Amino acid sequence: MDKLVINGGVKLVGEVEVSRAKNAYLPILAGVLLSDQKIELVDVPNLRDIRTMWQLLNNLGVKTEVVGNITHVDASNVTSQEATYELVKTMRASIFVLGPLLSRFKRAKVSLPGGCAIGTRPIDLHLKNLEKMGAKIVMQNGYVEASCEQLIGTKLVLDFPSVGATENLLMAGVFAKGETIISNAALEPEIDDLAHFLQSMGVQIEGIGTKTLKVTGLEKLKPTRYRAIGDRIEAGTYVMAGLITGGDVKVTGFNPAHLANVTDKLREMGATIHELPDGLHAIANGELKGIDATTEPFPGFPTDLQAQMMALMTQASGTSVMTENIFENRFMHVPELVRLGASIKLKGNSAIVKGPSKFAGAPVMCTDLRASAALVLAALASSGTTDVLRVYHLDRGYEKLDEKLMALGARIERARENEMI
Ligand code: EPZ
Repeated sequence: MDKLVINGGVKLVGEVEVSRAKNAYLPILAGVLLSDQKIELVDVPNLRDIRTMWQLLNNLGVKTEVVGNITHVDASNVTSQEATYELVKTMRASIFVLGPLLSRFKRAKVSLPGGCAIGTRPIDLHLKNLEKMGAKIVMQNGYVEASCEQLIGTKLVLDFPSVGATENLLMAGVFAKGETIISNAALEPEIDDLAHFLQSMGVQIEGIGTKTLKVTGLEKLKPTRYRAIGDRIEAGTYVMAGLITGGDVKVTGFNPAHLANVTDKLREMGATIHELPDGLHAIANGELKGIDATTEPFPGFPTDLQAQMMALMTQASGTSVMTENIFENRFMHVPELVRLGASIKLKGNSAIVKGPSKFAGAPVMCTDLRASAALVLAALASSGTTDVLRVYHLDRGYEKLDEKLMALGARIERARENEMI
C-alpha cells in the first residue's frame, strides 16, 4: 500500500487546475448503458472509482477505447445486466446502473452496495420510486433483482433530495412511457451535468436546476461527445490547502458558483477569496477566526467538504462548530486530527473545534475519501513529517493530488508503506 510523506509548514503559492468531476462522471458513465449509439467522453479523470466503473461496464459488454483525452464508448452490445458484488462492494456508485439497465433492458441484477465507512448508505428511495414506475423489485442473496414490462412515466416525490436517487430515476425515465416528474429532486451541480449529458443524446428534460425535473421518455438516442463539469469538491480542497498553509492559491477549471456557500464561509473566517471566470483565488491574510457551519443538500455547505473545513477550523482562532446533517458517521477524521494536536470534542452530530492548534507531524490513517483529504491538509499545516497511510482512499477521488500539491510548493511524496504496519 502507498503512503504520502508530507513535510509541512510551507505556504502554498501558485495555480492548480482541477480535473473533471468524479461525481458527475460516475452517473454519466452509468448512463452510457442507455445508448446503442457512439459516445465520446472528454477528459474523464483517471481515478480508482472511475476505473472501477469502467471495469463494471466492460463486464456488462460495453466497449471502451481511450484515444488521447477522449474515451470512445460503445454500449450497442450489452451482454449482461448483472453488476456483481465483487465490483459493487468497492464502490456504491455502482447502484447507478440500476436505472439505465431497467429502462433499456427491462431487467437488472445489482448487488446491494452495502454500507461504507461514512454510513449505511440505504437505497430505499431509489427502489420505492422505481417500483412506482412499474418495476418489480426482489431482494435476495444480497442482490436487487429488478424487472418490468415497460417503465411508466410517473409523478414521483423524493422524501429526501437524494443525489443518487435523483440520478437513477432521471435515467430510468429515459425509455419510460410518457413523462416522469421528480419532485424534491436534489439540486447538486452534478445532477444538472447528468441532465445535460442526457439532453446531448436527445432526451427531453425540463426543470434542470430546480427541485422539479420532468423527463419525457423516447425511443432512440443520438450519438454524443460530452465533457463533464470541473470538480467543485477537489477545488474546495485545494482552496483550503492554500488557506491552511497561509498561502496564496488560484484554483481553476470549475464554476465558482458551485462553491458559493463555501466561499461565504471562508470569507466569514477572514480569508480573501476573489472569484475568477473559471475558479477562485484564495489568499490567507493573517489569522483565520472560528465560525460555525452545517452540512446541507446543495446549495448548502457540502458534506464532501466537511472534513476539510474542520481541518481548517483547527487553525482558526476561537471556537468553531461543524455540524454534519447528511451522513451518520462522517467524523472519522476527528481522532486522527486530535493525534496531530487538534482540540475537538464531539457532541452528537456536531464537532466543537478550538483553535488555533499547533500541529506536530505524526503517522495518520486514512479511513474514507474526504477524511483522507482533511489529513493531508492538516499535515501541510504541521511542523515536521507526517506519514498519511492507506492513500488508496484518496486515490478514489483525487487525480494526481501529490503532483498538484507539489506544483504549489508542498513538500510531499508518495512512498510504499512498510508492510509490517
Ligand atoms: C452522493 O452520494 C455523492 N456520491 C457523495 O459523495 C455525496 O456525499 C452525497 O451525494 C451527498 O452530496 C456520488 O455522487 C458518487 P445521497 P449519494 O443519496 O447519492 C440518505 C464523495 O465523497 N439516503 O444524497 O449516496 C443517505 O444515507 C461521496 O465523493 C437514504 O436514506 O448521496 C445519506 O444519509 C461520498 N435513502 C443521505 O440520504 C436513499 O435511498 C444523502 O445521500 C438514498 C440516500
